Amino acid sequence: MGLYPYADTYPVTRAFPQHGRPRADILREIEEMAAAEDAPYHDGRISGSIYSGDEEHYAFLNEVFGHFSHANVLQRDMYPSATRFEGEIIAMTADMLHAPEPIGVVTSGGTESLMNPLLVYREWGRARGIERPNVVLPVTAHPAFHKGAHYFDIELRLAPVTDRFVVDVAAVRDLADANTVALLATAGTYPHGLVDPIGELSALAVERGINLHVDGCLGGFILAWGEDLGYPVPVFDFRLPGVTSISADTHKYGFGLKGSSVLLYRSAELRRHQYFVVPDWPGGLYTSPGMSGSRSGGIIAAAWAAMMSLGREGYMAIAERIFATAAALRAAIDGVPELRVLGDPLFNVAFTTTDDSGLDIFLVNDLLVTRGWRLNGLQRPNALHFCVTRPNTQAGVVERFAADLTDAVAHAREQHGTPATSGAFYAGGVTTEQISAGMAWWLDATQAVPPAPHGSDATAAMH
Ligand SMILES: Cc1ncc(COP(=O)(O)O)c(C=O)c1O
Repeated sequence: MGLYPYADTYPVTRAFPQHGRPRADILREIEEMAAAEDAPYHDGRISGSIYSGDEEHYAFLNEVFGHFSHANVLQRDMYPSATRFEGEIIAMTADMLHAPEPIGVVTSGGTESLMNPLLVYREWGRARGIERPNVVLPVTAHPAFHKGAHYFDIELRLAPVTDRFVVDVAAVRDLADANTVALLATAGTYPHGLVDPIGELSALAVERGINLHVDGCLGGFILAWGEDLGYPVPVFDFRLPGVTSISADTHKYGFGLKGSSVLLYRSAELRRHQYFVVPDWPGGLYTSPGMSGSRSGGIIAAAWAAMMSLGREGYMAIAERIFATAAALRAAIDGVPELRVLGDPLFNVAFTTTDDSGLDIFLVNDLLVTRGWRLNGLQRPNALHFCVTRPNTQAGVVERFAADLTDAVAHAREQHGTPATSGAFYAGGVTTEQISAGMAWWLDATQAVPPAPHGSDATAAMH
């Protein structure tokens, strides 16, 4: 993979084409790229990322999407169906998470569902005379909170985790002061798949009279079913009186299409802080419920259709397989003396090497990469995680992984002392080569188009 991955396969577009191309031609190219790019997830070697992987489910959602892909949710008079979908998505999620009332918004994804509550809690603080607001969050909390705090000028106070990799509540207590507007916690952390002690944080939030957001972006739509399936999932939702908002992503374990998440609030008063209004704009009274302006009705329709078509039973059946696969995976890792699992995970299993072995976990990953596995690299401590999704629940995946893991540990032993090519990178890739290509793209997006071949002009490769 380079800066322009398809330069060898398709002509590179360097300027706006004068003439359109036949649709069939474009579709063929799209289908070729999609088929090649989707291939790795089909046999279950990808951690996270593809949550459903059920082609029939995707085909159904895409059909639903097609009916409203062009519809703008902002035009509520034209598309009242979007209001219906949104309201019912919120009602279903509120029911799942035991909210006292169905109060929420549908957002574009986890990041927006974490940034909005920060704005809300800043405004909540301002209404109470807090001018320099801070929030206290675990070091394991998702960086979208950092992004939100940066955008909204909120001080972040990072609390360490215990040796069980969940937040140290005593540290949170010490960090919170009179300017703390909210505590932040996670149900299903990205690094280790764990649930922070939300019961204790809820009690602290009640005691201090402040807010508590639970990031269930990753875990919400899977952990919610765990309790009924008999897994030891601690209560993390609105049943805890201090929890004032929860995010849960329909585009992850909600099995919707990419681009949707649900953000629930305990009260309409809190949600109101999120709404934005410009009453006297020459373009007319402007109102919007969150950060986005126009949004596709198709995405919301697809999230609704995913929930309606699966129902509780459908989600529970998939969740049961995911929990069972994660337990088997965990047992396989526990069976390797050089490895240890971090904390007590149920669906997203993080592991590293034991201190005694002295092995580099990224050398372990290097071999796994050559066998087609795409795990996620972590740091502090260096570790890998395997976030189990539906494609990983196929027969034989855990057995293949266990066999490759044994070989991978042998590889790390043989290569001991040499630098690994994989590392701790969030999204973007697994190896340093993939990441540096991605970084270069961010640093200078113009490099994403390779220089024109010698002697050609800008139109040389136009279709
Ligand atoms: C725990 C958690 N919160 C938030 C997010 C951010 O979600 P998104 O990538 O949809 O913005 C993620 C993404 O993986 C996550 O794992």
